Amino acid sequence: MILVTGGAGFIGSNFVHLWLADHGEPVVTLDKLTYAGNLSNLAALEDDGRHHFVQGDIGDRDLVERLLHEHRPRVVFNFAAESHVDRSISGPGAFIQTNVVGTFNLLEAVRAYWAELPGEDRRAFRFLHVSTDEVYGTLGPADAPFAETNAYEPNSPYAASKAASDHLVRAWRHTYGLPMLTTNCSNNYGPFHFPEKLIPLVIHNALAGTPLPIYGDGLQVRDWLYVEDHCRALMRVAEAGAPGETYNIGGWNEQTNLDVVRAICRTLDEMRPRTDGGSYAEQITFVRDRPGHDRRYAIDAQKIERELGWRPRETFASGIRRTVRWYLDNQQWVDGVTSGAYRSWVDHHYGG
Ligand code: NAD
Ligand code: DAU
Repeated sequence: MILVTGGAGFIGSNFVHLWLADHGEPVVTLDKLTYAGNLSNLAALEDDGRHHFVQGDIGDRDLVERLLHEHRPRVVFNFAAESHVDRSISGPGAFIQTNVVGTFNLLEAVRAYWAELPGEDRRAFRFLHVSTDEVYGTLGPADAPFAETNAYEPNSPYAASKAASDHLVRAWRHTYGLPMLTTNCSNNYGPFHFPEKLIPLVIHNALAGTPLPIYGDGLQVRDWLYVEDHCRALMRVAEAGAPGETYNIGGWNEQTNLDVVRAICRTLDEMRPRTDGGSYAEQITFVRDRPGHDRRYAIDAQKIERELGWRPRETFASGIRRTVRWYLDNQQWVDGVTSGAYRSWVDHHYGG
């Protein structure tokens, strides 16, 4: 079986669903269920005997050691993290605690487990650390996309905490020989994406008839990848990646934020026209920029394509249609995750 940490979050839950559909091999999900973790993301697996959910913290070494010894996973996929850049600016402490200290404790628990595995199990074991392109900092308009050899230049507290966790993973490989793999992926989008992030926030606000907030001039560039393509890349890395290596994952799909928001508005205009006959694009509102906002991310994904034969299946045009459709069809999920604490964040961050 495999252990998935952070499996009740956006990418982790998509991964668990896809893994069980594709492989059928049992999964234990460990998740603290922070504001970003929702059991409703895994509701379809409630009666599935192949899935076992445990609420807990990756920083709880005793709990993790117990889980490892009880379930004896052959792979650990580490998705657990604080993941929202804006929250890392207003409250960096939780990011250091989970992304740095939590990863350290998880690594120590895994090291103890791995050291005791018998020969073949020890050789086959893998720890896959899911990380981000934000560790590389920001690009100018004419710069080449981030390659695995780029220097780390994290700019936000979130990016710095992820960079620190990547360094711990690297050191645990170099010093203790643990069979680690690290992936650095670009911006994901798709089902179960918490509506504090740009794409689900814009879909949610558009349908609610509220402003679509664009930071600064909206010309910042991100490289968007449909979440299932990311999940398939992670499966491929765990299966065939060389221990100790890092792999960049991206969609070759650079877009300005403004273009992304306009594409969502066009899709909604077609799928769920506004009752007043206007366009959702009329709700676009420019707001104060994010402090230290990275201007451009772009991923050079040639290594994973060349060495592991992975390529994204979804284009942005097809992925955004699937995503908007999913949100229209899953309003109950949206209602569930946007009550209470979500409203406090929106009020605090966007000033009501
Ligand atoms: P998310 O915020 O949606 O989910 C994170 C999950 O981790 C939540 O379920 C949360 O409850 C859980 N969690 C948080 N702290 C924990 C702890 N201490 N112990 C156990 N569980 C804990 O994040 P996401 O967007 O799904 O991102 C998953 C991973 O992928 C993160 O490591 C992130 O850095 C990385 N990543 C995300 C993107 C993206 O575009 N979203 C892109 C590249 C990499
Ligand atoms: O690049 C990978 C990273 O992508 C992941 O590591 C992070 O976990 C994930 O959150 C994401 O980070 P970003 O900061 O790029 O994503 P976010 O959706 O928050 O913002 C995308 C862009 O949209 C960014 O340039 C900021 C802008 N934005 C965001 C929000 C929430 C707005 O203009 N308005 C908004 O209200």
